Amino acid sequence: MTAFPDLRLKRARLDTYGRPDVPELVDRYGRVARDLRISVTDRCNLRCQYCMPEEGQEFLPTPEVLTDDEIIRLMRIAVDELRIEEIRFTGGEPLMRKSLEKLVAAARGMTAWTGAPLDLSLTTNGLGLKHRARGLAEAGLNRVNVSMDTVSPQAYAALTRRNRLKDAQAGAAAAAEAGMTPVKLNALVMPGVNENGVCDLLQYALEHHYELRFIEFMPLGPRGTWKRSQMVTREDILRIVEQHFELTHRPGPERGASPAEEWDVLPGTNHPGGRFGIVASVSRPFCGECDRTRLTADGQLRSCLFAREETDLRALLRGGASDTEIADTWRAAMWGKQAGHGIDDPGFLSPARPMSAIGG
Ligand code: 5AD
Ligand code: SF4
Repeated sequence: MTAFPDLRLKRARLDTYGRPDVPELVDRYGRVARDLRISVTDRCNLRCQYCMPEEGQEFLPTPEVLTDDEIIRLMRIAVDELRIEEIRFTGGEPLMRKSLEKLVAAARGMTAWTGAPLDLSLTTNGLGLKHRARGLAEAGLNRVNVSMDTVSPQAYAALTRRNRLKDAQAGAAAAAEAGMTPVKLNALVMPGVNENGVCDLLQYALEHHYELRFIEFMPLGPRGTWKRSQMVTREDILRIVEQHFELTHRPGPERGASPAEEWDVLPGTNHPGGRFGIVASVSRPFCGECDRTRLTADGQLRSCLFAREETDLRALLRGGASDTEIADTWRAAMWGKQAGHGIDDPGFLSPARPMSAIGG
């Protein structure tokens, strides 16, 4: 295995006739994956409308879920062999895994190929974070994204089917208190459900110095919940926000692999100003800049949220494969990553698994 002397693989160097002989997770379009997203459980204590059915969601039997040692081994392969620089823990609800602190601490003990510490983050609904934020920060977690779609207790209960807004808010506060800043809030806007609470949510985020990010609803939930014509788009959100807040678009040299487009909010009479973002995955796809590779809770590798195929790393782990064999399989799978999510293609099919099983 010969490594390129440069720190980053450049697109121009990509051999289009075959996979280049580099350690990185590179695909045939020249994208390099540096960001690993690991779903540590498919279970959740909420039942968000856009993610799960009210009842009857089936969860993985425990023996099918990767053990701590298996996750730690895959993280080590990703970091040591495949040059992953960032790890995000997701779910389901990652706090439902009791050993999350242990996984974070194990990742904190690893060093990226650049010599820098890994960037470690968590996407959580925040329930119970109040009791674990300090321990997670001490284990080495850098940042959290807390899912909070509304600050109306009624709309929150309707959307998540649980009356737990206060717990989510306490979780976000505890993360800030533990120094995991900036705390980001993820908000998915559903037509007719929390659309008219968008400004209250932004107001709340600004007051607490959280960075709010609106995320366009993607066809990843229960069948029939997503309709393009009903989607609340980037444009819709901007139109609503601009009625109450004064915004300036943050130019930024390039969005890069960060999917959020950002705006500064000028200080107002009743808020300190700040910034917020929109992740317009559907109306303005950023697949060309994607730098992610994903592991499901049962050890299936996915090159994309919308991939139709998975690669069974658990079978390799449990079948006695070497680190090199696992790394090679991982590279080969990422080489075949599709160009884009194809939501607008006539033949588009949603993935067979919901977001809770894939990991956000
Ligand atoms: N489209 C977009 N984002 C989604 N999430 C869950 N389901 C979807 C979907 N269908 C997001 C939630 C949460 C994160 C875990 O994933 O907003 O913040
Ligand atoms: Fe749970 Fe997240 Fe799905 Fe909501 S979106 S049900 S919090 S996994």
